[in-house]
Amino acid sequence: MTIGGEPLLLVGAGKMGGALLQGWLDRGFDPARIIVLEPDPSPQVAALCAARGVGLGMPPTPPSVLVLAVKPQMLDAVAPRLAPLAMESTLVISILAGKTIRNVSDRLPGAGAIVRAMPNLAAAIGCGITAAVADAKATPAQRRTADALLSAVGHVEWLSEESLMDAVTAVSGSGPAYVFYLAECLAKAGMESGLPADLAARLARATIEGAGALLARRPDVSPAELRESVTSPGGTTAAALAILKGEDGLEKLIAEAVAAAKRRTRELSG
Ligand SMILES: NC(=O)c1ccc[n+]([C@@H]2O[C@H](COP(=O)([O-])OP(=O)(O)OC[C@H]3O[C@@H](n4cnc5c(N)ncnc54)[C@H](OP(=O)(O)O)[C@@H]3O)[C@@H](O)[C@H]2O)c1
Repeated sequence: MTIGGEPLLLVGAGKMGGALLQGWLDRGFDPARIIVLEPDPSPQVAALCAARGVGLGMPPTPPSVLVLAVKPQMLDAVAPRLAPLAMESTLVISILAGKTIRNVSDRLPGAGAIVRAMPNLAAAIGCGITAAVADAKATPAQRRTADALLSAVGHVEWLSEESLMDAVTAVSGSGPAYVFYLAECLAKAGMESGLPADLAARLARATIEGAGALLARRPDVSPAELRESVTSPGGTTAAALAILKGEDGLEKLIAEAVAAAKRRTRELSG
């Protein structure tokens, strides 16, 4: 797949930038058109670039696509170097949590179209979910390019309004960590119920893996229906769910957690 005549510049090849790079190469994007700007590439990223012929450093010409994948707090530090590269024809794709399209265009005032996207950690295995929103300057061709680049690491949901991005970040951007924490809590509760620690950890991990796989394989069945199908009235699962679904149960906790993440997303704006 081609990206355009000029190179694609990936700025920041950490966890998420590295996952995107791997996804693009796996999907057959031309490595000769990709350049990675990263002060301290990990051994994996350095090896990948060397093996596939991806350039490291500043591009010789302004890129057609500039993907921002540094930490949000680094935007001000990287922007002065990038601003001269961001031209009217440049598509900027930012995955910076909390940073608005306006925040990015203020730092890269010469840039043409800006797409703000929020991937999640499962992008590292090509199973991510990314929400994206394009500004009014994005052409249909630039939107297709952004869709192809973001789809390389999973499914893409296009949003009609940027204002939805804070909630998206709090639900799917941060969401994998909530599920990992659930695995930790389940393992701990198993230990407290008398299981050896390693067995409890294996049971918790495999339970969450299996439940996730069931959700993935049965898109026609809602999570509530799956839950009801394993909850016999008066049975053991029903006893546990009575606690989880209690007044101060999981629904309230998750709602509070998502609200806190949404607030934090807004604080990162600017
Ligand atoms: N991880 C996630 O699950 C996730 C989900 C959604 C969105 N995001 C967004 O993705 C972005 C990256 O997150 P991450 O988890 O991938 O962070 P990360 O692993 O820390 O990656 C950021 C990378 O940028 C590099 N960097 C720092 N200064 C730079 C500069 N001046 N020029 C070029 N590269 C520079 C860092 O290098 P050093 O390590 O040497 O500083 C690091 O390798 C964040 O904005 C985050 O909001 C992440």
